[in-house]
This record gives sequence, C-alpha cells and structure tokens, in this order.
Amino acid sequence: SDRYAVIGHPIGHTKSPLIHGMFAKASGQDLVYTAIEGRPGLFAEDAAAFRAAGGRGLNVTAPFKLDAFAYATERSARASLAGAVNALKFDGERVLAENFDGVGLTRDVVRNLDCAMQGKRVLVLGAGGAARGALLPFLEQRPAELVIVNRTVAKALALAQELVGQGPVRACGYQELEGQRFDLVFNATSASLRGELPPVPATVFVPHGLAYELAYGKGLTPFLRMAQQTGVRRLADGVGMLVEQAAEAFAWWRGVRPATQPVIERLAVPLA
Ligand code: ATR
Repeated sequence: SDRYAVIGHPIGHTKSPLIHGMFAKASGQDLVYTAIEGRPGLFAEDAAAFRAAGGRGLNVTAPFKLDAFAYATERSARASLAGAVNALKFDGERVLAENFDGVGLTRDVVRNLDCAMQGKRVLVLGAGGAARGALLPFLEQRPAELVIVNRTVAKALALAQELVGQGPVRACGYQELEGQRFDLVFNATSASLRGELPPVPATVFVPHGLAYELAYGKGLTPFLRMAQQTGVRRLADGVGMLVEQAAEAFAWWRGVRPATQPVIERLAVPLA
C-alpha cells in the first residue's frame, strides 16, 4: 500500500495518523499513514529517506513548515502567501507543496458551523504563521472587512500590505479595537497554548457572532471564556480546522474526498 506520514518534532501528540486512518477506512483507500519524529536541521534528509522507502506524501508540522517550503520544487499560491507548507506530494522528482490550514479553517466555519463570512466583519488576532494561512481563503469569502490585529503592530501592517488588492484588509493594534464590533473573531495567536489572553477588548464581540479558537483541545481557553461571558453563543475550537485540513490533503493525494463529520465528532473535546 502507498505510504504517507506526518513529520514534526516533537510528534508524539499528533492526531494525524488517527484522522487519516479513519479517512482511509471509510473511503476504502489502501494506504498506511504513520508519524515521523523529524530531526531539527535534517528535514531534507528525513524527507528523502521517506521518499526512498516509498513515501508518497507528507504532512508537515512544527518546526518544519519552513523547511518543507524550501524543500519543495513547486508551491501553490496559498503556500507561498502563508510562507509555510503543511502538505507535500511526491511525484517522481517533483515535490509539490500546499498549505491547507486556511482552506480547512474556512470550510469548517462556512460549512460545518454554517457561518457565512460574506458581507461580515471579520477580526483575526495574531499575525504569525497561523494567521497568515487563513487570510487569503477568508478574503475569497468576500467579507465586508477583514481586520488583522497584533501585539507587534508592524507585523500586522506588513501582512495587510502583502494583501493589498486582494480585498478589504486593514491592520491595527489592540487599542484601536475599542468601539468596534465584529461578527466573527478568530484567535490565531499562540497565547492560548500558555493559558494567556490576547489584550482584545470584550466589546469586539456580538451575541449573534462566532468566536473561534484555532488551537485544538485546550477546552474553554481565556479567549473563549471571555467571548462566552460577553454573551457570544457560538464558540468553536480548532478541531474542525484540524480535520478539514487533513481532508484537503487526503483529497489532494488520493483524489477522494472523505467525510469529515464522524472524525470531528470522534476528536472533539468538550469546551466546558
Ligand atoms: P504561530 O505559527 O502559531 O502563529 P508565531 O508565528 O510565533 O506562531 O506567532 C504567534 C502569534 O501570537 C503572534 O502574532 C504573536 O504576537 P507578536 O507578533 O506581537 O509576538 C501572538 N501572541 C503570542 N502570545 C500573545 C499574547 N499573550 N497576547 C497577544 N498576542 C500573542
């Protein structure tokens, strides 16, 4: 059977073998999907060894997303804008690179959570790798406005600058959010991984809106708790994003789109 894997460091906690294993079983695809503990600084060697052993594709996670970008011979537009790669496909000498995080997130919001972005005001907290991947797919949904806010304002400004001409994007600092409201608020900072709260004013949320934490499996993070306390009824964490980006990679590799709902239900961790 064809071989696939996720590579990262550390890789112990990864859910990808479980997700792709469920996809393969449900869609009748004959493949083996494993996890590889990558060696920092030796990504090209580890990827080459996997290819030599018959590997057809890799998912790539921290800290190798930039190494994978460099290793690729062809990169999609979204991988280029994200500046990071989370999926590789091997085709003879060719190494094709993709970034499915943003499309996976967008699909989760629009289809699974039934929360259209068209004409809505959208706020993204953070300007790192997680935020970068989401911006182009978000703009394709034609929001009324997409605001990027970051602690280091210069990073948000630079990112908005890269998107000039692609849609109604603006960048600002957290203080400038006073008095502004957003239908959809995404926490794409790494604050939740340390139990921290980005300095976002509670007034940005609206009750009919959506608060989405990109991190997965952290329960009710300080960000989600704040949103809940201001009366936001729809709260989500990154489980749907995780499964949807995996489904995008699976479809890219195998030409078959697996059902995601059973996998999301299996992996979901209660937010309370
Ligand atoms: P990732 O790939 O997860 O996005 P990253 O590229 O290191 O990680 O980016 C982390 C993001 O979280 C940045 O936008 C960072 O803000 P700065 O650019 O100002 O550092 C943001 N971040 C991390 N901790 C934060 C906190 N406690 N409050 C607000 N923003 C935070």
